[in-house]
Amino acid sequence: MSKETFYTAVDIGSNKVCSIVARVGAEGDLKILGTGMVTSQGMQKGRIDNIDEVKVAVKSSLEEAQRYIGRGVITGVYAGVSGSHISCLNTKDMMENPSADEDIGPQHLDQLIRSSFPKVDPSQEILHMIPIGYEVDGMEAVRNPAGLHAKHINVESHVVMGDAATLRNTVKAIEASRVSVRSLVVESLASAESTLTGDEKEMGAVLVDIGGGTIDLMIYRQGNPWYSAVIPVGGNQLTRDLAVAMRIPYFLAEDIKLKWGNALPELVRADEEVVVPSFQGQPRRIAKRRDLCEPLHARMVEMLKQILLRVRQSGLRQLPNAGLVITGGCAELPGIRELALKTLGGPVRLAYPQGIAGLPTQLQKASTSTAVGLLLWGIKHQGERRSYSNRDRTVKVHRSLRERLMGGRKQEQGVQVG
Ligand SMILES: Nc1ncnc2c1ncn2[C@@H]1O[C@H](COP(=O)(O)OP(=O)(O)OP(=O)(O)O)[C@@H](O)[C@H]1O
Ligand SMILES: [Mg+2]
Repeated sequence: MSKETFYTAVDIGSNKVCSIVARVGAEGDLKILGTGMVTSQGMQKGRIDNIDEVKVAVKSSLEEAQRYIGRGVITGVYAGVSGSHISCLNTKDMMENPSADEDIGPQHLDQLIRSSFPKVDPSQEILHMIPIGYEVDGMEAVRNPAGLHAKHINVESHVVMGDAATLRNTVKAIEASRVSVRSLVVESLASAESTLTGDEKEMGAVLVDIGGGTIDLMIYRQGNPWYSAVIPVGGNQLTRDLAVAMRIPYFLAEDIKLKWGNALPELVRADEEVVVPSFQGQPRRIAKRRDLCEPLHARMVEMLKQILLRVRQSGLRQLPNAGLVITGGCAELPGIRELALKTLGGPVRLAYPQGIAGLPTQLQKASTSTAVGLLLWGIKHQGERRSYSNRDRTVKVHRSLRERLMGGRKQEQGVQVG
């Protein structure tokens, strides 16, 4: 890197909007300059349901992040997208080397990937097209065929798509703060960027970011993203269930969940009692802590079953070798790891954002894996021009050659920062 560059990530979650501004110096050193964490509004299960409210939340999050650095530093942002409109498919395509004497060059791979771009419904937009493996003259699992002598090349790519109108609305909500969107990144990919190790990706892992309104899921195989999905349920449903079970308002249920919740009631002493505070004229009361963990347990079991269902839908019969990696705000719920182990078997790990030395305490939480991952993703893919413009009401995607060639191991190397 020849000069310092600024990066901004914006994660518009169902519960909070988190912005991070960072600078990468000429030596590749990364410094977080500011963060902005505000309560989200206008979002439901990862989807915008009131754009004016989202605009306000994004604006105050960005303003908070640039409090100490002044205006003008943030120009383009890397933004996360989620919601049940996200879908994926894996494509395969083949080409013949036009010249028998020539090695496979970047121009051939470029052409191959361009031709394998799937035709999607006009209501859909391709967010990512990631080459995940090549077959060269019958030899499988070639990571990078550039420079090889070959007659035939096959490429398999993982394609992530989203509803074009929904993506446009996300861009619109962010651009209202007078910044442009450099790239939209599916949130599961961002969270994986900040949490999964290279070994986990190689061994195969299921990454789940369990937030307030969604479970963002990404399955890795042989080092690459292989299956992605968004399940429209999260921690807010745990709170709603607790509120109904205890006949208390939502805000009180959230408070109780955070203080005494446990996904596995048997981990709580059978005789432990807690005081449910008074509300709206109702007297305070004593409750068994185990009892209030029951609805959390039941919903979490349901959520884990949904995760397993997606794993099966991906074509796997069981969890891959590195198992389940859980991040997102709900990873903080005590007992979740033990419950996942009991329900699904296989290794289970709770993950927090990694990859940046000296990460501020505020960002060392499972709920910020997406925002930190967006930043890392932006730095890694910084050479690419992928601009979304809301002004002409179309989403323009400029994919650089580099992105097309970012298959295999290249994707697994962490960003050398910090
Ligand atoms: N210590 C904790 N115990 C239990 N639940 C927790 C804890 N901390 C956070 N949560 C839950 O995590 C959820 C919020 O997670 P997160 O901040 O990752 O969501 P989000 O990114 O805003 O939403 P999403 O990604 O689903 O759109 C809430 O339901 C919250 O109650
Ligand atoms: Mg989230």
